[in-house]
Amino acid sequence: MNSAWKDAMNRFITAAALLALGTTAALAQSPEGDPAKGANVFKKCMACHAVGEGAKNKVGPELNGIVGRKMGAVEGFNYSDTLKEHNAKGDVWTAEVLDAYLTNPRSYMPGVKMVFAGLPKESDRVNLIAYLSGFNEDGTKK
Ligand code: HEC
Repeated sequence: MNSAWKDAMNRFITAAALLALGTTAALAQSPEGDPAKGANVFKKCMACHAVGEGAKNKVGPELNGIVGRKMGAVEGFNYSDTLKEHNAKGDVWTAEVLDAYLTNPRSYMPGVKMVFAGLPKESDRVNLIAYLSGFNEDGTKK
Protein backbone atom coordinates (compact mmCIF):
# COMPACT_ATOMS: atom_id res chain seq x y z
CA MET A 1 0.00 0.00 0.00
CA ASN A 2 1.34 3.47 -0.78
CA SER A 3 1.23 6.01 2.00
CA ALA A 4 -1.46 8.30 0.52
CA TRP A 5 -3.81 5.32 0.37
CA LYS A 6 -2.88 4.35 3.94
CA ASP A 7 -3.64 7.89 5.15
CA ALA A 8 -7.01 7.84 3.45
CA MET A 9 -7.81 4.46 5.02
CA ASN A 10 -6.81 5.71 8.45
CA ARG A 11 -8.99 8.79 8.11
CA PHE A 12 -11.89 6.61 7.03
CA ILE A 13 -11.46 4.24 9.98
CA THR A 14 -11.25 7.15 12.43
CA ALA A 15 -14.39 8.75 10.99
CA ALA A 16 -16.29 5.44 11.16
CA ALA A 17 -15.18 4.90 14.76
CA LEU A 18 -16.28 8.40 15.77
CA LEU A 19 -19.63 7.92 14.07
CA ALA A 20 -20.15 4.63 15.94
CA LEU A 21 -19.24 6.30 19.23
CA GLY A 22 -21.65 9.18 18.57
CA THR A 23 -24.48 6.77 17.83
CA THR A 24 -23.78 4.79 21.01
CA ALA A 25 -23.77 8.01 23.07
CA ALA A 26 -27.10 9.10 21.57
CA LEU A 27 -28.65 5.70 22.26
CA ALA A 28 -27.29 5.63 25.80
CA GLN A 29 -28.77 9.06 26.46
CA SER A 30 -32.25 8.63 24.98
CA PRO A 31 -33.99 6.44 27.61
CA GLU A 32 -33.10 9.00 30.29
CA GLY A 33 -34.42 12.26 28.88
CA ASP A 34 -33.84 15.76 30.21
CA PRO A 35 -36.68 17.01 32.48
CA ALA A 36 -35.62 20.66 32.08
CA LYS A 37 -35.96 20.40 28.32
CA GLY A 38 -39.21 18.49 28.87
CA ALA A 39 -40.64 21.41 30.87
CA ASN A 40 -40.13 23.51 27.78
CA VAL A 41 -41.89 20.95 25.56
CA PHE A 42 -44.79 20.90 28.06
CA LYS A 43 -45.57 24.51 27.06
CA LYS A 44 -47.26 22.93 24.02
CA CYS A 45 -49.65 21.11 26.36
CA MET A 46 -50.34 23.94 28.81
CA ALA A 47 -53.24 25.45 26.90
CA CYS A 48 -55.15 22.31 27.88
CA HIS A 49 -53.26 20.55 30.70
CA ALA A 50 -51.82 21.46 34.10
CA VAL A 51 -49.33 19.56 36.25
CA GLY A 52 -47.91 20.22 39.74
CA GLU A 53 -49.42 21.08 43.12
CA GLY A 54 -53.00 22.35 42.87
CA ALA A 55 -53.22 21.45 39.14
CA LYS A 56 -56.80 21.66 37.90
CA ASN A 57 -58.55 20.12 34.91
CA LYS A 58 -58.65 22.49 31.95
CA VAL A 59 -59.74 21.50 28.44
CA GLY A 60 -57.87 18.27 29.28
CA PRO A 61 -57.42 16.47 32.62
CA GLU A 62 -54.60 17.35 35.02
CA LEU A 63 -51.54 15.18 34.39
CA ASN A 64 -50.07 14.56 37.86
CA GLY A 65 -48.52 11.10 38.12
CA ILE A 66 -49.55 10.38 34.51
CA VAL A 67 -46.64 7.98 33.89
CA GLY A 68 -48.05 4.79 35.40
CA ARG A 69 -51.55 6.26 35.94
CA LYS A 70 -54.68 4.42 34.81
CA MET A 71 -56.19 5.80 31.59
CA GLY A 72 -59.21 8.07 31.94
CA ALA A 73 -58.93 8.11 35.73
CA VAL A 74 -59.29 11.76 36.79
CA GLU A 75 -62.40 12.18 38.91
CA GLY A 76 -64.86 14.71 37.46
CA PHE A 77 -63.28 14.95 34.00
CA ASN A 78 -65.65 14.21 31.14
CA TYR A 79 -63.61 11.74 29.06
CA SER A 80 -64.46 10.47 25.58
CA ASP A 81 -66.02 7.01 25.34
CA THR A 82 -62.65 5.81 24.03
CA LEU A 83 -60.79 6.74 27.22
CA LYS A 84 -63.71 5.52 29.37
CA GLU A 85 -63.38 2.12 27.68
CA HIS A 86 -59.62 2.00 28.29
CA ASN A 87 -60.31 2.91 31.93
CA ALA A 88 -62.81 0.07 32.25
CA LYS A 89 -60.21 -2.37 30.87
CA GLY A 90 -57.68 -1.12 33.42
CA ASP A 91 -55.21 0.15 30.79
CA VAL A 92 -52.28 2.20 32.06
CA TRP A 93 -50.22 5.08 30.65
CA THR A 94 -46.77 3.50 30.71
CA ALA A 95 -43.85 5.51 29.31
CA GLU A 96 -43.95 3.35 26.16
CA VAL A 97 -47.68 3.89 25.57
CA LEU A 98 -47.34 7.63 26.22
CA ASP A 99 -44.49 7.80 23.72
CA ALA A 100 -46.61 6.13 21.03
CA TYR A 101 -49.68 8.22 21.90
CA LEU A 102 -47.86 11.55 21.87
CA THR A 103 -46.28 10.84 18.48
CA ASN A 104 -49.73 11.17 16.91
CA PRO A 105 -52.60 10.99 19.44
CA ARG A 106 -55.54 10.46 17.12
CA SER A 107 -53.93 7.90 14.87
CA TYR A 108 -52.68 5.90 17.88
CA MET A 109 -56.01 6.17 19.71
CA PRO A 110 -58.89 6.90 17.31
CA GLY A 111 -61.87 8.45 19.07
CA VAL A 112 -59.82 10.43 21.57
CA LYS A 113 -60.98 14.04 21.78
CA MET A 114 -57.56 15.61 22.26
CA VAL A 115 -56.98 18.03 19.40
CA PHE A 116 -53.20 17.93 19.16
CA ALA A 117 -51.14 17.05 16.08
CA GLY A 118 -48.43 15.22 18.04
CA LEU A 119 -44.73 15.42 18.76
CA PRO A 120 -42.85 13.89 15.81
CA LYS A 121 -39.41 14.44 17.39
CA GLU A 122 -38.35 11.51 19.58
CA SER A 123 -36.13 13.72 21.77
CA ASP A 124 -39.13 15.99 22.55
CA ARG A 125 -41.19 12.99 23.67
CA VAL A 126 -38.39 11.46 25.73
CA ASN A 127 -37.65 14.77 27.48
CA LEU A 128 -41.35 15.48 28.07
CA ILE A 129 -41.95 12.02 29.58
CA ALA A 130 -38.90 12.53 31.83
CA TYR A 131 -40.44 15.84 33.00
CA LEU A 132 -43.91 14.33 33.61
CA SER A 133 -42.36 11.35 35.48
CA GLY A 134 -41.11 13.83 38.07
CA PHE A 135 -44.59 14.46 39.55
CA ASN A 136 -46.44 12.30 42.09
CA GLU A 137 -50.22 11.84 41.81
CA ASP A 138 -50.72 14.65 44.37
CA GLY A 139 -48.62 17.02 42.27
CA THR A 140 -45.59 17.10 44.56
CA LYS A 141 -42.17 16.57 42.98
CA LYS A 142 -40.53 13.17 43.38
C1 HEC B 1 -56.12 21.44 22.58
C2 HEC B 1 -56.07 20.84 23.89
C3 HEC B 1 -55.01 19.81 24.20
C4 HEC B 1 -53.64 19.87 23.99
C5 HEC B 1 -52.85 20.98 23.33
C6 HEC B 1 -53.10 18.67 24.58
N1 HEC B 1 -54.11 17.89 25.10
FE1 HEC B 1 -53.89 16.12 26.07
N2 HEC B 1 -55.90 15.94 26.25
C7 HEC B 1 -56.83 16.89 25.85
C8 HEC B 1 -58.18 16.38 26.07
C9 HEC B 1 -59.48 17.11 25.74
C10 HEC B 1 -58.02 15.10 26.63
C11 HEC B 1 -59.13 14.10 26.97
C12 HEC B 1 -59.29 13.20 25.76
C13 HEC B 1 -60.47 12.27 25.77
O1 HEC B 1 -61.25 12.23 26.74
O2 HEC B 1 -60.63 11.58 24.76
C14 HEC B 1 -56.58 14.84 26.74
C15 HEC B 1 -56.02 13.69 27.25
C16 HEC B 1 -54.68 13.51 27.48
C17 HEC B 1 -54.10 12.37 28.14
C18 HEC B 1 -54.87 11.20 28.75
C19 HEC B 1 -55.15 11.55 30.22
C20 HEC B 1 -55.88 10.51 31.03
O3 HEC B 1 -56.23 10.84 32.18
O4 HEC B 1 -56.11 9.39 30.56
C21 HEC B 1 -52.76 12.56 28.16
C22 HEC B 1 -51.72 11.62 28.74
C23 HEC B 1 -52.49 13.81 27.50
N3 HEC B 1 -53.67 14.36 27.10
C24 HEC B 1 -51.24 14.36 27.35
C25 HEC B 1 -50.97 15.53 26.64
C26 HEC B 1 -49.65 16.07 26.45
C27 HEC B 1 -48.39 15.51 27.08
C28 HEC B 1 -49.79 17.19 25.65
C29 HEC B 1 -48.69 18.06 25.09
C30 HEC B 1 -47.68 17.42 24.29
C31 HEC B 1 -51.20 17.34 25.37
N4 HEC B 1 -51.89 16.33 25.99
C32 HEC B 1 -51.75 18.36 24.61
C33 HEC B 1 -56.53 18.13 25.30
C34 HEC B 1 -55.29 18.56 24.90
